[in-house]
Amino acid sequence: MGLVTIVGALWGDEGKGKITDVVNEQADLIVKTNGGANAGTTFVIDGKKHVLHLLPSGVLRGKRSLLAQGIVMRPEQLCKELEEFDWKVSIGIDPRLHVTLPYHLALDYAREKAADLKAKGDNKTVGGAIGTTLSGIGPTYEQQKSRAGIRFCELAGDEEKLKKRVEENYNYVKGIIAQSGLDVVMPDRKQVDGKYVVNEVPLTPEYCQQVAVESGRKLGKYLSDVSLEVIEALGAGKNVVFQGAQGTMLDIGFGNYPKVTSSETRAPAAYAAVGIPPVPMRVIGIVKAYPTKVGSGPVVTCLDGGRWPVDEACSDDIAKTIRKRANERGATTGRARRIGWPDMVVLKYSSQLNGFTNIALTLLDVLHDIDPIKVCVEYEIDGKRTDAYPSWDLDALARAKPVYKELPGFGDITGVREYGQLPDGAKQYIRLIEQATGAPVSIISVGPDREQTILRDFKPF
Ligand code: IMP
Repeated sequence: MGLVTIVGALWGDEGKGKITDVVNEQADLIVKTNGGANAGTTFVIDGKKHVLHLLPSGVLRGKRSLLAQGIVMRPEQLCKELEEFDWKVSIGIDPRLHVTLPYHLALDYAREKAADLKAKGDNKTVGGAIGTTLSGIGPTYEQQKSRAGIRFCELAGDEEKLKKRVEENYNYVKGIIAQSGLDVVMPDRKQVDGKYVVNEVPLTPEYCQQVAVESGRKLGKYLSDVSLEVIEALGAGKNVVFQGAQGTMLDIGFGNYPKVTSSETRAPAAYAAVGIPPVPMRVIGIVKAYPTKVGSGPVVTCLDGGRWPVDEACSDDIAKTIRKRANERGATTGRARRIGWPDMVVLKYSSQLNGFTNIALTLLDVLHDIDPIKVCVEYEIDGKRTDAYPSWDLDALARAKPVYKELPGFGDITGVREYGQLPDGAKQYIRLIEQATGAPVSIISVGPDREQTILRDFKPF
């Protein structure tokens, strides 16, 4: 028996897909723990690219895959993804999870729009909107906490009751949006001539009812007590993977609040999200070789002038090089991700919260021919040096200056398959990560293909 949890160590987009797939191969059951349609995870299997938003990655290997209570599930999106698999996958959906309906997206959009209208100037890094994915995530979790939300058991239940509940919730959201003097519209995100634009589509209660009823009919058969299923699987000695979404620094409690998502993204939170007791767990932290962030909030080592949205003309050449090499842009919106030098202060904090037992380092090859590589080992805040990360104090983080250690750069490593063959600069960088996290770097990804992976004495189970 074994339980492995995979979590992003930074701000998401760490390349979790490839590592998750390597681990899933030996798993019996894969469980998605948190988040919703805000994440898009890319998997390349047998040369074919798949992007999954809501479906757990186990479906790609024909394994039983579950959506836990901690998820917020957008039913039309899930139906769309299931359609792509011809509905021929084995999934289970926890009856207690909350569903995201179109009015949640309308509220998410209205809040972001109102915040941006209020923000002064064009740099929205400190004030202004969060830069959410406009997927209705915050409003859905908010309704869960206020005990007004609609759960999956209701979506799959009595249709007349469901319609009534949807109408009540639509009217509630309409009332909030009206306070900002805005209309109830759905954000339709698009790229037009390379630019990110959001079209506004009016939203009616009847449409929301239709979405709820039709998707409830299609998805009802997948209802399963996920908590019980996982407890029984572990009891039967099966191998279980918990697939976390986003990254630790986006955690609602321990990330850079309020510039965070609305779920708990840390590994220990997965016990509560799935509904199992704290049995032994291996925690694989996915560390991207350079941090990236979408949306506003502090990134101390940022090479994009600390700006959000990124003004690419003001970006440092290193950020431009990395963005081009790794196409560091949002999958849905095409917005440039903010890029920074590696930051060991953040990593130390992330490991402290998660208890990493192993690290998987991704996209190391992207740093080739960058010389020197600057790795932040401490911050200087108001003249004092520290390696403690004040995640709660965004003003202090805005004043923090990175203290760098310079490492020698390295060339092309995409053909390396043994740790011993890595160049000295890469090894020095790996040692710094191990010092900061206290965990071995057991998986090193040196290219997008599955075989471009170095395993150092690593077996997931
Ligand atoms: P929300 O989760 O859509 O509410 O967005 C809140 C913050 O989390 C924003 O800064 C988003 O850019 C960020 N975020 C949400 N999901 C992801 C993800 O999968 N990768 C990276 N950032 C994300």
